[in-house]
Amino acid sequence: MDSVTHDVLLVGGGGAGLRAAIAVSETNPGLSVAVVSKVYPMRSHTGAAEGGAAGAVRPEDSLEAHAYDTISGGAWLCDQDAVEAFVEEAPKELIQLEHWGCPWSRQPDGHIATRPFGGMKIERTWYAADKTGFHMLHALFQTTLRYPPITRYDEFFVTRLLVDNGRCQGVVAIELASGRVQTLFAKAVIVCSGGGGKVFPFTTNANIKTGDGMALAYHAGVPLKDMEFVQYHPTGLPFTGILITEAARAEGGWLLNKDGYRYLQDYDLGTPEPKPVKRSMELGPRDRLSQAFVKESQAGRAVSSPYGDVVHLDIRHLGEAEIDKKIPFVRELCLKYQKVDPVHDMIPVRPVVHYMMGGIDTDIQGATALDGLYAAGEVACVNINGANRLGSNSLTELLVFGARAGRAAAQFAAAQPAPSAALIAQAEDEERRLKTEFLDASGPERVAPLRKEMQAAMEAGAGIYRNAEGLNDAVETVNGVRERFQRIGLDDHSRTFNTELVSVLELSSLLDVAGAVLDSALARTESRGAHQRTDYPDRDDDEFLAHSLVYRSDDGAPRVEFKPVTVTKWPPGERVYGRKASDV
Ligand code: FUM
Repeated sequence: MDSVTHDVLLVGGGGAGLRAAIAVSETNPGLSVAVVSKVYPMRSHTGAAEGGAAGAVRPEDSLEAHAYDTISGGAWLCDQDAVEAFVEEAPKELIQLEHWGCPWSRQPDGHIATRPFGGMKIERTWYAADKTGFHMLHALFQTTLRYPPITRYDEFFVTRLLVDNGRCQGVVAIELASGRVQTLFAKAVIVCSGGGGKVFPFTTNANIKTGDGMALAYHAGVPLKDMEFVQYHPTGLPFTGILITEAARAEGGWLLNKDGYRYLQDYDLGTPEPKPVKRSMELGPRDRLSQAFVKESQAGRAVSSPYGDVVHLDIRHLGEAEIDKKIPFVRELCLKYQKVDPVHDMIPVRPVVHYMMGGIDTDIQGATALDGLYAAGEVACVNINGANRLGSNSLTELLVFGARAGRAAAQFAAAQPAPSAALIAQAEDEERRLKTEFLDASGPERVAPLRKEMQAAMEAGAGIYRNAEGLNDAVETVNGVRERFQRIGLDDHSRTFNTELVSVLELSSLLDVAGAVLDSALARTESRGAHQRTDYPDRDDDEFLAHSLVYRSDDGAPRVEFKPVTVTKWPPGERVYGRKASDV
């Protein structure tokens, strides 16, 4: 089997991975860096992010205020040391990105433009029209090209972490173009492969977001943290799940029920008028807005559509010129995928799975419990997002913690000996497993129906509202799917761009992620942020001001433990957005 050796290896070439790669090279230009990605980096899901990236820069803003909004928005489940580091480094990273070529939108006087965003009580979201992620990814990608030590392995699917002597020392990957299995040794590995929203059927997430990095770490004995917290974004297009960015509401859009009524005024989320701060009730936090949608729907006040209940997002009053200037992509997406023109028509929307607050358990340098293994971005849980991430914190998170993980991994790698020869046997073992369990597999089960069954069970049992009965039903179905997955068969046994093989490998990851979501959701018998248990409707700080950790037991079953949240300055309190907030 072919093998290559690098000092630091990135799994994933999206925003976090590229930022980490640059940080490694800046920290120690002598280190060789591998970026291993299942897609060409510019096709990473970071490119789909629309609305913006948060960083306190306005005169009326402060690091303290950004931290408080993040922590209260996260229902006090955030680790406050991580949040403090995050808000402090956020503006620096955003300015750095400007220097690398990111075309931030500007105010007429040349200052950086900011827009209000969900759950942020002060305007602090930087943006590049409504294609912010695309421009950030582009700036990062072109910057990596300036560093000769960075080598890319595009369209390589990583299937295993190589671990010896308690230290992660590389990966095994399949080159998708040829089917060739390749060993890549490294002194440190940083997983930056994004979330796993595809565990649900209706999501803004690209098809590539299948939790592969989470599954890799989980199989190597690293716990997954706070996996029960899955974010629904309140405004997805009903058939496709395509994101209609919160920027549409930031620029003044309204959410209307079937009576044309701005129903959020009944949910104590803010004022109809964006005064005294420029933040109307449509910019409440995502968990609360998605829950309000369910209530409207249950009360019969939503609009029926062929794809289930929807509400209307109305931006017509903004006018064509403003829409085309500030949110042109919203108009383009609506025209292409929903056949409505938001200049003249209301946009049908409904909540859609968007983001996983949970992920690989890391410390604030991105280090995991396994020496030599780091993680950053959505795949990781550091944890700055708590029980509900605020919109626009994640793009900045991938910069801040991508850079931190890169610096930490560079320092670690520089002090390590060459990877151990014992790993060759592990790599050969993995090559055999891939061949017998997948490539040559000829069982009766097929990937698409299994995936569909798992996704439907997740939506039914682990959606916006959950309870023990629904979660247990979902566990039973997912366990059944996992058992049938052992009898998977492929119709395509070829080696060249075998997309069926990729789907099977992805389903294997998704099943691990689904199990972790369900088991942690069952163990958390309280309601907090995006995790709403109808059988345990209250937040319980005495018992659950704690992170869940899902470990993979020796028999393969998940095991859930809890560890305390880090509180530095902000004791747990009430989350306040509505009338009380505007009195403050
Ligand atoms: O609505 C949005 O543009 C999403 C942003 C985010 O998830 O941070």
